[in-house]
Amino acid sequence: MSELLKDKVCIVTGAAQGIGKSIALKMIEDGAIVYGCDRLEGSMSALELEFERFHALYFDVTHAQAAKESMMRVKKEQGHIDVLVNNAGVVFNKKIGMIVREETELMFRVNVIAVIELVQLVSRLMARNGGGSIVNIASVTAVLGSSGQSAYSATKGAIISFTKSAAKELAPIGVRVNAVAPGIVKTERFAELYEDSKEKIDMRIAKIALGRLGSPDDIANACSFLASDRSSYISGQILGVDGCASI
Ligand SMILES: NC(=O)c1ccc[n+]([C@@H]2O[C@H](COP(=O)([O-])OP(=O)(O)OC[C@H]3O[C@@H](n4cnc5c(N)ncnc54)[C@H](O)[C@@H]3O)[C@@H](O)[C@H]2O)c1
Repeated sequence: MSELLKDKVCIVTGAAQGIGKSIALKMIEDGAIVYGCDRLEGSMSALELEFERFHALYFDVTHAQAAKESMMRVKKEQGHIDVLVNNAGVVFNKKIGMIVREETELMFRVNVIAVIELVQLVSRLMARNGGGSIVNIASVTAVLGSSGQSAYSATKGAIISFTKSAAKELAPIGVRVNAVAPGIVKTERFAELYEDSKEKIDMRIAKIALGRLGSPDDIANACSFLASDRSSYISGQILGVDGCASI
């Protein structure tokens, strides 16, 4: 076990699967106490059983009251919150002509509004104990653009802008705010999208200079670094973890 995040109290949203689960596990490996958040009751019980330092919080990040009660519970149980990773996200891969308002609204509610509200809430709690580190998960699509993901990439662009301004605003209370912008990451969702097409996967890989897709662990390593005191002079940055992609 590393001591990078020794005894830091970390909250990771969307921790039941995919990138969020890897972030939570990496943070435990790095010595943290992790509170994973997700919607579906029971979806993190295996993690709770396996890891003493993992605690599950079940709530929908778009429900402000439930989010508040969960954050207050962490503060009460641990006395402080050191790290928040806003990872929970939804995506509808649809062309501009096909996306419907309900889908666009849901993406903005989960990917943007919930992030702003969690940062409001948690930064106040962090400030009472001298500060902390917030990591928002953006996407390379917000930086490079991606056909078929216009509405989704707009939510991630909003997160990039929010990260830069929040970093300036929260610096005086000791809270750092950064974002990680993943490229294409091989998660359960990716497997569902591409399972039938090796050709499509090869086309994607051809646009990645490092010659492979990202792994959830690649993203988790970046998050642990930004959460840790090793990055104590870094705030307001967008760290691309995309294998040097051109999409
Ligand atoms: N997978 C990729 O290639 C990729 C690339 C760039 C960015 N991202 C971003 O990384 C993050 C994680 O992606 P992933 O591929 O692991 O996704 P995923 O769909 O596998 O996991 C997302 C998790 O968030 C949870 N979640 C969704 N809405 C929620 C809500 N309202 N309240 C609480 N939990 C909620 C889901 O239940 C799920 O466990 C997302 O923000 C995504 O946009 C992913």
